[in-house]
Amino acid sequence: MTPADEAPFEARSPKGTHDVLPPESARWEALIATFARLAELHGFRLAHTPLFEDARVFRRGIGEASEVVGKEMYEFDDRSGRRLALRPEGTASIVRAFVQHRPPTPWRVWYLTPAFRYEQAQAGRYRQHHQVGAEVLGTDDPDLDVEVITLAHDFYFALGLRAFRLRLNSLGDATCRPGYLAELRAFLAAIASTLCEEHREVWDRNPLRVLDCKRAACIEATASAPRLIDHLCEPCRAHFARVTGGLDAASVRWDLDDRLVRGLDYYTRTTFEFNASGIEGASDAIGGGGRYDGLSESLGGPVTPGIGFGSGVERILLACDAEGSFATAAPSPDVFIVDVTDGEFARDLVLALRRDGIRAERAYDGRSMKSQLKAADRSGAARAVIVGPAELETGTAVVRDLVAGTQRTVALDELRGELAQDEGQGAP
Ligand code: HAM
Repeated sequence: MTPADEAPFEARSPKGTHDVLPPESARWEALIATFARLAELHGFRLAHTPLFEDARVFRRGIGEASEVVGKEMYEFDDRSGRRLALRPEGTASIVRAFVQHRPPTPWRVWYLTPAFRYEQAQAGRYRQHHQVGAEVLGTDDPDLDVEVITLAHDFYFALGLRAFRLRLNSLGDATCRPGYLAELRAFLAAIASTLCEEHREVWDRNPLRVLDCKRAACIEATASAPRLIDHLCEPCRAHFARVTGGLDAASVRWDLDDRLVRGLDYYTRTTFEFNASGIEGASDAIGGGGRYDGLSESLGGPVTPGIGFGSGVERILLACDAEGSFATAAPSPDVFIVDVTDGEFARDLVLALRRDGIRAERAYDGRSMKSQLKAADRSGAARAVIVGPAELETGTAVVRDLVAGTQRTVALDELRGELAQDEGQGAP
């Protein structure tokens, strides 16, 4: 028994998590279907990897110094003493799977996954959130950067989002970044005492992150800091130019943000983030990603460049709410069966109709005609099939149009064919 076991039990989901239930879940289904369709269109195939991994997949992949690994990861020992971690994001797991299976490249996969981070729970920031994402491994062709960013952009557009902004940066590579970091360190060393309280102490550990700090002191103190974008080596500069040219050609609007660093340490070259203007504060990022040309090697794999993005389902839906877009109605049945005999007719007909591809529902527990008709109305069905003892006797049923209020009598042996025709399914 731990002290937690002795606390009074309440059937509630843990802090920072939430249930996704009908009718809200209809929006999730539609969002996921939209992403799946677009990802397939762009040549991505579904990948599904375990929710937990050897904790080192994330330690080495995302970086010990990142907040996600250092402060937020859910880690535990299993019963055999293996150190495991719940996935805080999707990319490291996908690259682990790549290293393990060595599929032919370019390897393009998309995913839908919960992700776990022990964050301060607030609106738009959860301890379990969900991401849709896509990754490509095996090429550093900048045209793929354009394809990946365009996929994310077109996905948001398909959901009806318009009030978002794409911030773009290049973080350079192993050739140009070290020289830049030395220059940035020298700059920060001279002004360290004026940085925000946190970065005053730790600026040296990850100097790039100081540039990404949202506190006024850091923003002011680093206003004239050297910019990585001005220090790119020629191949990185050419890569970035090809990416921005491709985005322009695809009519994807972007803003250069030379301070965009992002919170995961694997990024090289192209990095980007989509921010929605409708959701305020630190949680306005609806998606982000970039290149990670060294990640495969850091997990013991071959040198394999990669690029991808992940996008938070909850945040996208908050942005949709703010713009009044992507309202999705929960599906209603096509037909509701009202049976006031012993219910056998309804029992058999719902199953037969479902086999015909018609969404059929019924009432249970031998309820009265009035109560069943009420249930039919509430269900949102377009039609009701009504059967009482008189209809059964004459081998007929009444088909009522619940919107127009009209009705007709149909012979039982023609009923399935007629309903299938009504629903555009063709005769069974
Ligand atoms: P990330 O920026 O850490 O990147 O997360 C991606 C997206 O997940 C964010 O833009 C946001 O929409 C959502 N998100 C992150 N944390 C939370 C949270 N606590 N609550 C709600 N939503 C959240 C990655 O995870 C990278 N794996 C993206 C990537 C893929 N880079 C390359 N490939």
